[in-house]
Amino acid sequence: MIEKIIILGSKGQLGTELCHQLEPRDDLRLVAADVEECDITDGEQVRRFFADHAGRGEEATAVINCAAFTAVDDAEEKRDLAMAINAAGAGNIAAACRDVGARLVHISTDFVFGDGHNSPIKESARPDPLSVYGASKLAGEELAMQNNPATAVLRTSGLYSPWGKNFVRSIAGYARKKGALSVVHDQIVGPTPVAPLAEVAVELATAPVFMGGVYHATVEGGCSWREFTQAIVDLLQIDAQISPTTARQWGAPAKRPSYSVLDNERLRLVGLDRFRRWDEELELFIGRYGDTL
Ligand SMILES: NC(=O)c1ccc[n+]([C@@H]2O[C@H](COP(=O)([O-])OP(=O)(O)OC[C@H]3O[C@@H](n4cnc5c(N)ncnc54)[C@H](OP(=O)(O)O)[C@@H]3O)[C@@H](O)[C@H]2O)c1
Repeated sequence: MIEKIIILGSKGQLGTELCHQLEPRDDLRLVAADVEECDITDGEQVRRFFADHAGRGEEATAVINCAAFTAVDDAEEKRDLAMAINAAGAGNIAAACRDVGARLVHISTDFVFGDGHNSPIKESARPDPLSVYGASKLAGEELAMQNNPATAVLRTSGLYSPWGKNFVRSIAGYARKKGALSVVHDQIVGPTPVAPLAEVAVELATAPVFMGGVYHATVEGGCSWREFTQAIVDLLQIDAQISPTTARQWGAPAKRPSYSVLDNERLRLVGLDRFRRWDEELELFIGRYGDTL
């Protein structure tokens, strides 16, 4: 039975949510670390951190890695840094997990996929990243699974939370300030709140029988960023004009797939698909946090 959980990247969006969910539990010991305590690009530091903090023998440990370089556009110019954190960093963590016999739940992204999809993408589909970020995350998945056989990869999409930098918070701010926004309508995604993802990560990490491999872990269904924006301003009752633009006109430095909605087939098979439709999850989120956005 898992008794200890180490959260890496604990100050990010997902890491913060995981800490909130795990702190009240008295059946699990929580160790939370961000780059100050454990820089995942430094293999020796990661090994020392695990030697000091991972439970041995009786105290079985699971690690949930949320640490990442997540600035998708910046990664185009900072390839080495993105690779060091998202690829080599994931490999370092997995090697340290193997050394202490810990399970690893590693978080990845829909951006490992490229163009050519038009229905929800299953885990068995072939990745084909279009960006440096996507390539670095795919390399991280591979290294994590190579270095530690007890690794589960959760691919998610468009994460949002009440804290940190994310689309929902940015749109709420811009829409109130500017009253009119152009938003990309030709990229279809599955924007996912951190709360159900954190629940699934913990359930997988603590499952009586660990089932590794790749899992898709996003909301059900998909929407364009423009549709998502309209839903945000409607739910927040912000009076703003939302007009469509294309990804080409928007001209972001990193290429993104035109359709990257994921199908949580494997989570359904193991009875752990805890996600609602994208619009229901957004409504729940705004109902709970709308006043703070
Ligand atoms: N955000 C999304 O829309 C999205 C979509 C799909 C998948 N994902 C994946 O989901 C996971 C969680 O994302 P998130 O949005 O919670 O990320 P986040 O908010 O950017 O948090 C990442 C955390 O990792 C830390 N970090 C950066 N470099 C590190 C290093 N060398 N060693 C240790 N920690 C380091 C960051 O610290 P600093 O802030 O100081 O750099 C930050 O606290 C990531 O694997 C990401 O790739 C995210």
